[in-house]
Amino acid sequence: MPALVLLGAQWGDEGKGKATDLLGGSVDYVVRYQGGNNAGHTVVVGDQKYALHLLPSGILSPGCTPVIGNGVVVDPSVLLSELSGLNERGVDTSKLLISGNAHIITPYNVTVDKVTERFLGKRKIGTTGRGIGPTYADKINRVGIRVQDLYDESILTQKVEAALDVKNQMLTKLYNRRAIAVGQVVEELLDYADKLAPYVADTVLVLNEALEQDKVVLFEGGQGTLLDIDHGTYPFVTSSNPTAGGACTGAGVGPTKISRVIGILKAYTTRVGAGPFPTELFDEDGEALRRIGGERGVTTGRDRRCGWFDAVIARYATRVNGLTDFFLTKLDVLTGWEQIPVCVAYEIDGRRVEELPYSQTDFHHAKPVYEMLPGWSEDISKAKSFSDLPKNAQAYVKALEEMSGAPISAIGVGPGRTETIEINSFL
Ligand code: GDP
Ligand code: IMO
Ligand code: MG
Repeated sequence: MPALVLLGAQWGDEGKGKATDLLGGSVDYVVRYQGGNNAGHTVVVGDQKYALHLLPSGILSPGCTPVIGNGVVVDPSVLLSELSGLNERGVDTSKLLISGNAHIITPYNVTVDKVTERFLGKRKIGTTGRGIGPTYADKINRVGIRVQDLYDESILTQKVEAALDVKNQMLTKLYNRRAIAVGQVVEELLDYADKLAPYVADTVLVLNEALEQDKVVLFEGGQGTLLDIDHGTYPFVTSSNPTAGGACTGAGVGPTKISRVIGILKAYTTRVGAGPFPTELFDEDGEALRRIGGERGVTTGRDRRCGWFDAVIARYATRVNGLTDFFLTKLDVLTGWEQIPVCVAYEIDGRRVEELPYSQTDFHHAKPVYEMLPGWSEDISKAKSFSDLPKNAQAYVKALEEMSGAPISAIGVGPGRTETIEINSFL
């Protein structure tokens, strides 16, 4: 059982943090392979609640080595404050490894994220404002700053100069902002160098050697399939590849090493930020899902948009990720509805469509076709096995499994580690 990928099957916030933490005790490495501190992963261990943004959720499992892979974008100030916050709570973070090839979110990337969103006005993406898109843009434009650059002042200065050359023109002439001084940025970045030095490593070598030795490596995705820059609802997406292939490029591990791809799937749907969302609810059901599910962003504190389960999306996630399993989360939130609508297909301009349309225009016009499934009223939060669930909850899970195209191997019935029904073992 070498490498597993655990990723979001919808628009993020599916419960990846909880699922990763659950497996963290049984794996040797947990690796973030993309995204940055736009992620917000909540993990509940006993009576303790942790909100992780940049650190892999495996950091809470003492036997596990957490790794920030080359595909991640790192804001050093956020990373250091997350580390010190955990240290203050008695969590040992000394095993952390950070790829020298990971790109740094500089202060000017954060500024550019905020001003471009403001400039887009009503066409804005609703980003988290953490500098994610501009940092990946710099990476692709080959003017990015990497972690390893912090250890060569001359190279760092040249690279910051190159990056600010165009940006300062843009900031001053287009956005009416003050220019950013190269020296100030370099000074701030150099200040992080010593603090990060103990963690910086050749993570590609470490992970591949670990796999050679039959160690278990878990790749933890940020965001979700429909936020993927290639496979998501572009342009209302993030700027990286949360889908399974991203684990290979974002960690430097070949696809032949990956034997299991687990999609985390909420029993209903949520989305933060702008963009199409066919099953979105604007009524009291949406309000109830938000309230009962606690659907408020961990990173930005924004209310999440809520809607019913969308099987078209789930099937799409199975396809583009090659999912072997689903981990269905938050089934407990649906307790109390007499009937639960599930979107089985879309109606687009009078036609019934079973699969996600590749055309953005069509997707914007998609209306959900619902099937009503009978609900349950019994408290399921103490259920330990599938047979403990009421018959209608069992039927709901089975129906979702049938529609989604991969087995549901675990079910979340509460936020805590132990509030999970394991059906098939992941390891
Ligand atoms: P992530 O970004 O995918 O890690 O998900 P978030 O942490 O942003 O949002 C998921 C929320 O649901 C968190 O507050 C979790 O503690 C909570 N959660 C996860 N699984 C379950 C579950 O099965 N039931 C309930 N009630 N809450 C859950
Ligand atoms: P986790 O890992 C939900 C959304 C933002 C915005 C879009 C682009 O907790 O599931 P960005 O700042 O990435 O350029 O914003 O992506 N977004 C998320 N939505 N969960 C996340 O992470 C998200 N990370 C980014 O709201 O719509
Ligand atoms: Mg989240």
